[in-house]
Amino acid sequence: MKTLIKNGTLATDKEILKADILIEDEIIIAINKNLKKEADFKIINAKNCFVFPGFIDVHTHFELAQGKTTSCDDFKTGSIAAVCGGTTTIIDFVNPEKEESLKKALNIRLKKAQNIASDFSFHMILNTYNDLIAGEMPEIIKSGVTSFKCFFAYKNMQLKDEEFLKILVKAKEYKALVTLHAENGDLIKILSKKFIKEKKTHPKYHYYAHPDIAEEEAVFRAVNLAKFINQPLYIAHLSCKKALEKIKTARRGGQIVYVETCPQYLLLSKKNYFKADFEGAKYVISPPLRETKDMEVLWNALKDRFIQVAATDHCPFNFKAQKEIGKNDFTKIPNGMAGVGERMSLLYTYGVLKNKISLNQFVEVCAANPSKIFGMYPKKGSIIIGADADLVIFDPQVKDIITASKLKSSVDYTAFEGFEIQGKPRTVLIRGKIAYEEGKYIGKQGKGKFIKRKTFKVD
Ligand code: URP
Ligand code: ZN
Ligand code: ZN
Repeated sequence: MKTLIKNGTLATDKEILKADILIEDEIIIAINKNLKKEADFKIINAKNCFVFPGFIDVHTHFELAQGKTTSCDDFKTGSIAAVCGGTTTIIDFVNPEKEESLKKALNIRLKKAQNIASDFSFHMILNTYNDLIAGEMPEIIKSGVTSFKCFFAYKNMQLKDEEFLKILVKAKEYKALVTLHAENGDLIKILSKKFIKEKKTHPKYHYYAHPDIAEEEAVFRAVNLAKFINQPLYIAHLSCKKALEKIKTARRGGQIVYVETCPQYLLLSKKNYFKADFEGAKYVISPPLRETKDMEVLWNALKDRFIQVAATDHCPFNFKAQKEIGKNDFTKIPNGMAGVGERMSLLYTYGVLKNKISLNQFVEVCAANPSKIFGMYPKKGSIIIGADADLVIFDPQVKDIITASKLKSSVDYTAFEGFEIQGKPRTVLIRGKIAYEEGKYIGKQGKGKFIKRKTFKVD
């Protein structure tokens, strides 16, 4: 079966050109101007549209248990929202219990992901370090899970420096990448306890309990420990200038530190925490939203390539019944917000169209870099002969307004409510098959493929 995409403007991280794409089964087999149609080809007309490589979201939390509740998108609803928004591959997480075998936890997650619509992989979370983990890490890496997520905050997740150092050493030995949630958990705990004792329970105290210095300190510590071990590091969901400054210094000194940010840190400020009643709970995420000046710094860092990845940290909790768990205590509000379906339109509208990043950079931070950093390039995140035919035919003219009722995610609100967007996917192909067309998911669920990722290598 061959599919020919005609008349589109191909846009990758490096090029923008008029060309047709011929697909055979799952793979791109030709790219050229005016490729000839044959009678049995399926034709897709991409006139007036960009054709992008399928976008990659390296930070989602489908069915994440947090306290007494679980993020409300499962692998089916979350991945359908992703695909309809132009994301064809996601990397989610395996979150083992303390003392649980990593292999066992991975198998449970793989079973849960059986009905996934997009291609996918996992980062393995390490909430401690011991002989069991040390023994299993090589096998986990061999199975294609080549990145590990560490936390410097959160109850039951926060690592000691000693554990983090040992993880870096092991990751170096087996060529895996360590990623980090960088906030100082002790500082957050002290501040949170103090506020609750003073009966300061409103969601705005989540903001005050997570000051930017907690992020700056954690980033600085992690970067220095990684420097000592001479091992690259990936900082997840960076939110502020102070932390970025530490990374800039490290990168200027030749250290490999990758940085991810997310649309919420680029487009939403701390003022949302000060909304009336309990509204601020919708924005309770960690790290929290910051000052408008931090947002500007993050946009500039994307442009100047100090930030390499724009992911979503999609972790949706319904306002009703889930965020409300923390109605009388901000520390009990589940942390996270949705965004997996909105990322591409938001970054195109507020990044590309507002000249904050170029069209090539848009593809670089949402497809090519995530693929390179996490061992999937050039199969994913590129448009070349031999690559997977994950393609997004994107109409740059269509306008819309983001609103909760139109989301494909199962969450009951969006932090981006009322945001005007211009540019949306019209057709999305995953490995040659149309999964989304004209507003509807038409793919076959459960067809998402587990991507066995390569070990870490500097590109
Ligand atoms: O608030 C957030 N970011 N929730 C998801 C879990 C995490 O820290 O990444
Ligand atoms: Zn995190
Ligand atoms: Zn996260």
